[in-house]
Amino acid sequence: MKIAIVTGASSGLGREFARQLVAEFPEVEQLWLIARRKDKLEDVAASLPRPALCLGLDLCDPMSFTTFQEKLLSEQPQVLLLVNNAGCGYLGNLGETNTVLETRMIDLNLRALTAITNLTIPYIPRGGRIINVSSIAAFCPNARMTVYSSSKAFVSHFTVGLGEELHKKGISVTAVCPGPMATEFCDVGNITGNSAMFNTLPYCDQVRVAHGTLLAAKYRRTFYTPTMFYKFYRLIAKLTPAKLMVKFTKT
Ligand SMILES: NC(=O)c1ccc[n+]([C@@H]2O[C@H](COP(=O)([O-])OP(=O)(O)OC[C@H]3O[C@@H](n4cnc5c(N)ncnc54)[C@H](OP(=O)(O)O)[C@@H]3O)[C@@H](O)[C@H]2O)c1
Repeated sequence: MKIAIVTGASSGLGREFARQLVAEFPEVEQLWLIARRKDKLEDVAASLPRPALCLGLDLCDPMSFTTFQEKLLSEQPQVLLLVNNAGCGYLGNLGETNTVLETRMIDLNLRALTAITNLTIPYIPRGGRIINVSSIAAFCPNARMTVYSSSKAFVSHFTVGLGEELHKKGISVTAVCPGPMATEFCDVGNITGNSAMFNTLPYCDQVRVAHGTLLAAKYRRTFYTPTMFYKFYRLIAKLTPAKLMVKFTKT
């Protein structure tokens, strides 16, 4: 069975990936959707052009990796596309925040992404693709979201290194770096109403971000940064020392 896997498919950008990916990759016969809220995944699955398997997994719990691995072992799918989208970001200064939330960003954005990727690679055939959802937060550190921006720097680095490792196997890896999007992310992360930066920045539309990312993956690009505004920001961040940038990038 030729499948696509999307983590964090119950809302926001992940739901858009699930909805749009068959249009770009019509050879996908089945989708595997992963998130904690299985009822939401089933709502998404009901609207898709292909059958979908809904896996209600908490990716912060390492037991979920075992469940996922067992599913791969029993089904033996060919994974044409893996979308590592599940992620979270919490606002606040370290030392004043909840340690459980600070470390959850590491558990989900780094550990789970690494584990799901490592378990899935043996099932990705030549020509397959991986998409990692990074962020503009990867371009330089963001005070008040220090752990989040560091976690997304990991995702971007991971993408480039993994792409090189998988090049010989004919598998490409693409990172998308969106600006803010009006999804559940901002409410979950206590950002809504509490960040002057998020109030000021232009928002990206998750429907367009998903579409652009799928095209970038189709053409095997390593990075996709939506909108001219954030492409320009990426360039500025590349040319300016991080120690100076960080003075202006507080969330
Ligand atoms: N929104 C933004 O401003 C923004 C900007 C740049 C990058 N991003 C990135 O975009 C990606 C998608 O975020 P979004 O904006 O679409 O936010 P979202 O609507 O909150 O989506 C997050 C998804 O991750 C899932 N998830 C959260 N914790 C999980 C866990 N422990 N186990 C399994 N799944 C879990 C959620 O599902 P359940 O709650 O059902 O588990 C949900 O489907 C993230 O990687 C985020 O860092 C977001």
